[in-house]
Amino acid sequence: MKAVIPAAGLGTRLLPATKAQPKEMLPVYDKPTIQYVIEEALKSGIDDIVVVTGRNKRSIEDHFDKSYELEYTLQKSGKDRVLKQVRKITDLADICYVRQRDLNGLGDAILSAEKHINDDAFAVLLGDSITKGPLCTRGLLDVYERYGKSTISIREVPNPCVDRYGIVSGS
Ligand code: UTP
Repeated sequence: MKAVIPAAGLGTRLLPATKAQPKEMLPVYDKPTIQYVIEEALKSGIDDIVVVTGRNKRSIEDHFDKSYELEYTLQKSGKDRVLKQVRKITDLADICYVRQRDLNGLGDAILSAEKHINDDAFAVLLGDSITKGPLCTRGLLDVYERYGKSTISIREVPNPCVDRYGIVSGS
């Protein structure tokens, strides 16, 4: 199973925090949001990951890439625990990156990964959204495996928020 993680958006709702840094890199406690997202994919049994990036998103690639200078400095100063944490990030998964050229929304971001996915089934995890409790992606995969149909996870939001999110309405 493959995962597509769109992370190319401008994050205008979180300005000015997102002016020069991707919202997917904003930390929750001690990790950037997108690291939680990738860890969720891995824990759910997905290890082939495509991240959709865009302009000003280099720090996402840097975060999951090896940092020789940092590792050397940590090693030299005997900071073994942090060194282990830093190396773990690089070893997390095989991640490849595709670029969304024009920001035409979420659907278009997913379409940017088309060549990598071919006709395979795939999961989409949003690069800026994390969930608590049981693994949401694992739950979606279980439903997909049972019924062989596309599944989507949604969350109830209070009325004043309806113009801030993509909304699914129904009875
Ligand atoms: P959002 O709609 O929350 O992201 O999309 P956004 O466009 O950055 O948000 P605002 O409205 O400007 O604040 C959910 C995920 O889809 C990605 C975003 O990066 C985010 O992780 N996305 C969104 C893309 O990859 N490309 C797009 O064109 C839009």
